[in-house]
Amino acid sequence: MPFVCNADSSDEIISKRIRGMQNADLIMSQIKRSVVQKDFKQLNQKTVILKKLAKKMVTFFPIGTEASTNNFSAASIEIWEQPVKFNHLIKTLQSNVRDMLSASKNNDLNRYNKTFLSTKQLCNSCHERFRN
Ligand code: HEC
Repeated sequence: MPFVCNADSSDEIISKRIRGMQNADLIMSQIKRSVVQKDFKQLNQKTVILKKLAKKMVTFFPIGTEASTNNFSAASIEIWEQPVKFNHLIKTLQSNVRDMLSASKNNDLNRYNKTFLSTKQLCNSCHERFRN
């Protein structure tokens, strides 16, 4: 759960989460390519990476790392004002990615596609709500 951090370490945490988010973006586009190519081996590998990232996401947002004039973050203060909503989105992301993984293990492209699209929507809805 959230821990408080000082200003120096908050810059580091912000860089780390932005790299993590950029990585999520890259993985999502690699996944899209693998869906088009029906490459289940790649799908499986990339989804495993996404699952790890989704699991780590809860550690990305300690108290004191919101956007301010002193940093380059776009994290809305609402993350810490409405933690239940925010954490629920992360939990839903994790469960969606689990569904993606099981669909890729079963070579079920239809189901994979559906869960992939809802994961994308989830990325977007969190950004709409919690990113400045
Ligand atoms: C629970 C909320 C939440 C979810 C879910 C989420 N993000 Fe983010 N994302 C954020 C927040 C908040 C920021 C802003 C972080 C900052 O600037 O400190 C962000 C930033 C980003 C950025 C911008 C990084 C930059 O260059 O500044 C990208 C790209 C991104 N997310 C991709 C994704 C992708 C892809 C997914 C889905 C797989 C995703 N995010 C899921 C909350 C979320």
